[in-house]
Amino acid sequence: MANTKILVTGGTGYIGSHTVVELQQAGYDVVIVDNLSNSNIGVLDGIERISGIRPEFVQGDITDIRTLHDLFSNHGPIKGIINFAASKAVGESVQKPLLYYRNNLVGLMNLLELMPQYGVEGIVFSSSCTVYGEPDRNPIDESAPIKPATSPYGNTKQISEEIITDVIHAGAPIKSILLRYFNPVGAHPSAEIGELPIGVPQNLIPYLTQTAAGIRPALTVFGNDYDTPDGTCIRDFIDVVDLARAHVIAMRRMLDRHDTQPLEIFNLGTGRGLSVMQLIQSFERATGVKVPYTIGARREGDIEKIWADPKKANEVLGWSADTDIDQTMRNAWKWQMKVSHAD
Ligand code: NAD
Ligand code: WQD
Repeated sequence: MANTKILVTGGTGYIGSHTVVELQQAGYDVVIVDNLSNSNIGVLDGIERISGIRPEFVQGDITDIRTLHDLFSNHGPIKGIINFAASKAVGESVQKPLLYYRNNLVGLMNLLELMPQYGVEGIVFSSSCTVYGEPDRNPIDESAPIKPATSPYGNTKQISEEIITDVIHAGAPIKSILLRYFNPVGAHPSAEIGELPIGVPQNLIPYLTQTAAGIRPALTVFGNDYDTPDGTCIRDFIDVVDLARAHVIAMRRMLDRHDTQPLEIFNLGTGRGLSVMQLIQSFERATGVKVPYTIGARREGDIEKIWADPKKANEVLGWSADTDIDQTMRNAWKWQMKVSHAD
């Protein structure tokens, strides 16, 4: 009997590539669609080196409905979708809101429209803790209020969640699981795949590892006068492989269980908050490499502190983020060394 086939949109991207490996190792067949706007084709080699299987790949844009018709017709039958494909740079979304609304929403709507036609049963959606804004208290669980978005990017995640909810409430014959990621970091322990930021990284870990590698002179810590123990912001940093594993469990639950609700929402985090300074210390401890840093001004729009209550995912999915942060930092560093030496 053929394996169940999953469509992974954005599957050559950072979280997508790690998830493809976990899906393959769990026995799923994978077809990736990616327009390579924020990733490159070489990622397929990395995936193949880990799993021994080259996923089917369609270079295309999910905002183009014809591409999707062709994909479902020629690469089916597809039983489930994981929709990673989206633009994700918060600052850029403020400058180019239409690009973000079009790319992140039209792609999703195309998928939702075609799923029933092609017999696709479920879709896992990449949402974000950004929907919670600045939490009233931490840790934060799924029942916490959604706060007004502070960027067009964040708004696309809120609107996407609403679109999926409305479509399911309208009786579409599909299921969905919305996964709210906290801060994904690290790389595959094999260093075959990892995060590949284009240009100057906006996120903490790639900036930190590039600084440690000597590519950038110093990391600027954005503010040390917050109301936190050491004054720097607090986040819930989750290992990307732990995050990837959750997608496999979510997919299995959607496709194999007939007793679950058609729409479910889970926080994916460790449940532990770490400050920016603690993360730098973890990196230095884990790798023995010093990170030159300076304290700078606060970054506009930053959340002071947020970390997950992952109890629902722990109990309902039977999943937890177990990788030790020092191990995650070692993986991030191993990946950075590999990328630096490839240049
Ligand atoms: P990424 O940019 O590495 O991956 C996204 C992939 O989608 C890229 O390979 C890109 O080329 C592709 N893509 C973009 N638009 C497309 C389109 N219209 N058609 C086809 N392919 C397209 O990002 P990531 O960090 O892996 O994030 C994956 C998802 O998770 C995104 O939806 C993102 O918003 C969400 N998310 C990410 C984070 C994070 O910190 N990385 C946190 C919360 C949520
Ligand atoms: C983490 C902490 C910075 C860079 C963003 C998006 C969010 C989500 C994940 C998708 C903050 C500090 C950073 C630097 C620093 N993405 N920092 N110096 O802001 O939590 O979340 O990515 O949904 O929507 O907003 O992540 O990695 O940018 O920052 O001091 O050079 O590191 O101020 O406190 P963030 P981040």
